[in-house]
Amino acid sequence: MKTSAVIQVFGIPTDHQFTSQDDLVAMFLDSLSSTNTVRNGDIIVITSKVVAKCEGRVVTEANDRESAIRSQAKRVVATKVHDRGVTTIVETHSGLILAAAGVDASNTEPGTIVLLPVDSDHSARGIREQIEERAGVSVGVIITDTLGRAWRLGVTDHAIGAAGITVLDDLTGKPDAFGRALEMTIVAVADEIAAASELVRPKDSLTPFAIVRGLGHLVTQEHGPGARSIIRPTEEDLFALGTAEAIALGKERAITDRRTIRSFTHVVVPDGAIQTAIEAAVTAPAPHHTTPWRFLVLHFNDPQHQQKRIALLDAMALTWQRDLEAEGKSQDEVSKRLARGDILRTAPCVVFAFMDLASGAHTYPEAGGRNNSERDMFLVAGGAAVENFLISISSQGYGSAWISSTLFCAETVRNHLGLHSSLLPLGAVAIGVPESIPSQRPPKSAAGFLLD
Ligand SMILES: Cc1cc2nc3c(=O)[nH]c(=O)nc-3n(C[C@H](O)[C@H](O)[C@H](O)COP(=O)(O)O)c2cc1C
Repeated sequence: MKTSAVIQVFGIPTDHQFTSQDDLVAMFLDSLSSTNTVRNGDIIVITSKVVAKCEGRVVTEANDRESAIRSQAKRVVATKVHDRGVTTIVETHSGLILAAAGVDASNTEPGTIVLLPVDSDHSARGIREQIEERAGVSVGVIITDTLGRAWRLGVTDHAIGAAGITVLDDLTGKPDAFGRALEMTIVAVADEIAAASELVRPKDSLTPFAIVRGLGHLVTQEHGPGARSIIRPTEEDLFALGTAEAIALGKERAITDRRTIRSFTHVVVPDGAIQTAIEAAVTAPAPHHTTPWRFLVLHFNDPQHQQKRIALLDAMALTWQRDLEAEGKSQDEVSKRLARGDILRTAPCVVFAFMDLASGAHTYPEAGGRNNSERDMFLVAGGAAVENFLISISSQGYGSAWISSTLFCAETVRNHLGLHSSLLPLGAVAIGVPESIPSQRPPKSAAGFLLD
């Protein structure tokens, strides 16, 4: 695209105090000096403050700023508490993300605050039509607001409304100066123009208008998609929430997002993910300040691990088969039940969890009794650790199923692995990448779980 090497930016001052009684376009045209008329291809930049005032978007109860912000907000994106109070970044009903919903007490009558125009693109289209009609020229119009930026200090003006102008210049696929195709280069030209205009419209200068000349190639016949099209769709936004809000949501969802997953892809689970989950597991509370948890990790893609896994599962299956036959189950039923354990044979990773009573459980003189209570207390701590493990696995993006089988053949497991009798199995956890997205968990009210 050819551009002129020089652009001109003229500030158009007026000491008029705008109200809803004003004809904004008349005020703009009247403010032009005889040497500075509006020309074909000009871009007229107008601060949203005067557009809003002319549209009657002034709230007189300045002390009701918070409710004014809330009324303009679709959702709170981020909050930051600081010495001067709380900064709230919100998404407005028109999709803009900005501090305090753009509700502003600067350059307004004392005791009043100004909201943003309801639909700045709509306002820009109306202003453009009127300028073209009254001045007989073809122009683009940009309505601006002064915004902060994530990652960078300082504010700049941005286009929040636009008509008759290319707002995004998509250079993707076009050659750079060396002939290489540009990748994903979309220039926000409307924002660049808005920022340039702010250089001639200082905040204390009563200069609500600017004319940008020399960018006629960006002025379009149609009103075009407007500044709304500059807003990044939320689903494409890597930073759709502030840091504190994202952390809070992550904490809240870490527990409820864990689901039992019984079907995995063949994707390998990296050992680092398992180590991370074990490190989360062993932060669980346990009696007597002990750390009684032990884990056997067997990966499918390690032939020695897999051999050990299958041998253990075969031994467990034999015990299970004997138990089922002793119960009088038919061969068909026995086969069906045994097949349910297949997930542990094929899952990309299986972690067998144990609790070691020898790591600090107290013993009592009587048989059973308090010794059983002590064992149960350690088993409860085992459950806490496995739940931590499952939550960590889930928060790392993997799925898991906690399978009870080792609990029902503890002796077999210990004998097969050569483990001391103090080691109590806590079940086996199958882990992998879920084959499909688990269904949403139905909400459960605490009321249904309370004893009278
Ligand atoms: C101690 C324990 C043992 C479990 N054993 C099995 C099992 O042997 N087979 C199985 O399919 N699921 C087993 N589960 C998983 C539960 O059935 C599962 O948590 C339940 O379906 C709820 O689903 P959710 O985890 O998605 O909330 C076990 C869960 C726990 C806590």
